[in-house]
Amino acid sequence: MSATASLLRGALAERMEAARKSTDQLFDLLKPSAIYSRPIPERHRLIFYLGHLEAFDWNQIARNALEVPSFHPLFDKLFEFGIDPPVGRAAQDQPSDWPSTAEVLAYNRRVREKIDELRETAPAQIVNVAIEHRLMHAETLAYLFHNLPYDQKLGPAMTQHEPGSSIDPAMIEIPAGKATLGQRVGKFGWDNEFSEHTVSVPGFQIGKHKITNGQYLDFVRAGAAPPHFWIERQGEWLYKGMFSKTALPLNAPVYVTHQEAASYARWKGAALPSEAQFHRAAYGTTGGEERPYPWGVAQPDASRGNFDFHHWDPTDVESTPAGDSAFGVSQLVGNGWEWTSTQFGPFPGFLEFPFYPGYSQNFFDEEHYVMKGGSPRTAACMLRRSFRNWFRPNYPYVYAGFRITED
Ligand SMILES: [Fe+2]
Repeated sequence: MSATASLLRGALAERMEAARKSTDQLFDLLKPSAIYSRPIPERHRLIFYLGHLEAFDWNQIARNALEVPSFHPLFDKLFEFGIDPPVGRAAQDQPSDWPSTAEVLAYNRRVREKIDELRETAPAQIVNVAIEHRLMHAETLAYLFHNLPYDQKLGPAMTQHEPGSSIDPAMIEIPAGKATLGQRVGKFGWDNEFSEHTVSVPGFQIGKHKITNGQYLDFVRAGAAPPHFWIERQGEWLYKGMFSKTALPLNAPVYVTHQEAASYARWKGAALPSEAQFHRAAYGTTGGEERPYPWGVAQPDASRGNFDFHHWDPTDVESTPAGDSAFGVSQLVGNGWEWTSTQFGPFPGFLEFPFYPGYSQNFFDEEHYVMKGGSPRTAACMLRRSFRNWFRPNYPYVYAGFRITED
C-alpha cells in the first residue's frame, strides 16, 4: 500500500471509530426500558436500530464486498432493513418478537472485531457508505429519541430561549444564473448524487431567513394546525425539545412537514424553492463561480451554522451570520433541513449502486420530496453541496423547516 493510500485508510478507520462513538453515545442516553419502545409508529422498535448499524456494516463490508461467511445469518437478516410505510400504517410486531439486548450487544461486539480485521481489504467506497450510513442514523435516531417520553431519556435540560425581537422577514433578490447539482465523478457521493449537471435558474426572490416559530404562530392563529413539535398548555404554546419542554422559541426555525410548509407559502402568496433555486441561493455568486459551502471554501465549523451534533435543538435564525451565502441568505446549511418543491427523483445518468440497490430507487415514487441543507444533528461530511435528503410530505418527525420564494 502506498503512503497516500495508507493515510487515506487511516483516516477511514478514524472516521469509522468516531461514527461508532456518536451512535454509542446516543444509545447511552436511553434508560434500559426504552430499548423496546417504538417512539415513531412508522418506524421499527429501537432494538432494531441497535442491531441494524452493525448488521449493515457486516452485510456490506464482510458478506457482500469480501464474501466472508456469516457467523450469525439470522441477525444479519433480521436487522438488515428499516421500514418506511405511509404515515398511519404502523408495523404490528411485539417486543417479544425481538432478541434480548444482551444477544444484540454480543453480535455487535463480534461484528466490530471482524470489521476491524477486514476493513483494510474492503473497497474504500463501501467503507465510506458504512460510515455515512451510520451517521445518517445518528440523525434519524435523534428523531426517534425525540419522541420518547422525557422520563425514558438521560440528558441535559434544554437552554431556555430568551424571547427575542421579531425577525425581519426580508426577501433577497437572487439574479439569474447557473446552479451545479450533483457530485463530480471520482468523489464520494450516494447514487442519487450522480451525475453532476448544471441548470439555468431564472432570477427570483428568497427569504433571508428560514420561517420562524413566531411567523408560523400567525398561521396557527389564523386556523392552521400546530406543528408536531409544539404543544399547548393553558393557552400557551410550548416547544417539545429533545430533553424538555420550553417556552416556544419564537426566533428559531419552525420544524414542519412539507405539506405544512407548502400551505404556509400559499397563505403568503409565495412558494417553496425548487432544489435548483436552493442551490443557486446557497452556492451561487454574482460573479458566476459557485462555492462548495454557502460561506465559501472553509470547512464546516460551529461558527458557520448549527450542525455536526453541537446542539440538540434549533437556535435562533440570526445566530450564525458567518454562515451567510454570497447573496446574504442565512442558514441555508444547518439549523434544520429545508423542504424544496422538488420531488425526489434521479439526476440525468443515474445508476443505482449495485451493492445497495433500492437505496434511492425505491423512493423515486413521487411520494417523497427533496430536502437540502442540514440539521443540528447532521454530520459535517453530509453538508457537502451534492448531498440530498428526502422524506414523505406528511412525515412530521424530521428536523426540517423551510423558507419562501417569490418570482
Ligand atoms: Fe439503515
